[in-house]
Amino acid sequence: DIVYLNGELLAKKDAKISVLDRGFLFADGIYEVIPVYNSTPFRLKQHLDRLSYCLKQLNIINPHSDIEWKNIIRTLIERNGGGHLSIYLQVTRGVSNDRNQVIDEVMTPTVMLLASPLLVNEESIETASATLLEDIRWQHCDIKSIALLGNIMLRNKAQQLGCDEAILHRDNLVTEGSTSNVFMVKFREVYTPPQNQLILGGITRDVIIELAEESGLKVHQENITVDDLLSADEVWISSSSREISPITQIDGKIIGSGQVGPVANVLHSEFQAFKK
Ligand code: PDD
Repeated sequence: DIVYLNGELLAKKDAKISVLDRGFLFADGIYEVIPVYNSTPFRLKQHLDRLSYCLKQLNIINPHSDIEWKNIIRTLIERNGGGHLSIYLQVTRGVSNDRNQVIDEVMTPTVMLLASPLLVNEESIETASATLLEDIRWQHCDIKSIALLGNIMLRNKAQQLGCDEAILHRDNLVTEGSTSNVFMVKFREVYTPPQNQLILGGITRDVIIELAEESGLKVHQENITVDDLLSADEVWISSSSREISPITQIDGKIIGSGQVGPVANVLHSEFQAFKK
C-alpha cells in the first residue's frame, strides 16, 4: 500500500503529518473519493472540478494544476498495482505555527492520497436498507469537507438500527444519504432533490441523471417529501463507492416491490456499459 504525501510516495505506515496540521486540529480541509475501473479514473475531470470548487469555497489555493493531479493519480494507481481502486484524495490548509482559528499565515496545503481496493458488482446489483433520520449537519453540505462528524453520527445511528444507510431530511424534505445521494421513481419518472447547499453534488448523481435522460426517462430535480419517498415505486442511493444501490426497505417499510426495480435495473446496466 503506497501513499502519496506532499510529493512523496511512501509506505502507509511511514506517511505522517504534523499535530499542527489544520486538518488534524480543525478539520480544515476537503476531500474526494475517485473510483478507478481497470486502472482508469472515472469522471476525473468532474472530480477535479469539484475539488477546485471546494478549495475555492475555503480560500485554499489549489496546490496543483489538473495535469499535475492527473500525473499524481496515475502514478499512485501504478504503484498500487492498478485494477479497480478507490482513490481517497485529501487537501488540508496546511501546518500552522500554533493552534489559531484565525488564518493569518500563508500556508502550504497538505496533500495526501491513498488507494484502496474497490469492490465492483458488475453482474448483480446490491440492495440495501435505510432509516430516515433528521439531517443534523451544517448548511454547506455542497463542500466535501473532511469535517464529517454529523455524517458519522448519522451513519452509525443507522448501523445501530441494523440499516445500511441513513437517508436524511430537513423540514420534512429529503436531502441525501449520510454518504450518498438519493433518487426515487414514481410512475416511471425519476426524482432527486435539487443541487443546492444542502447536498453534495455527487459525481455519480450527475452520471445517473445523464444516463436516465439518454434513455428517455424524465428526470425531476425537485424537492421530495418524506411521504413521497415512502410511497415511491423505487428508491436508490448513489455514490462513487456504491454506484446505484436500490433501497428496498426504509425503517422496515417495504419500498415498491421490495426488489430491485425496473428503472434501477436498466440504469445499473447502462452504468456498467458507460464505465467501459
Ligand atoms: N461519499 N453525499 C454525501 C454526503 C457523500 O459523502 C457522497 C460520497 C455523495 C456521493 O458523491 P459521489 O457520487 O461524488 O461519490 C453524496 C464518498 C464516496 C465517501 O465519503 O466515501
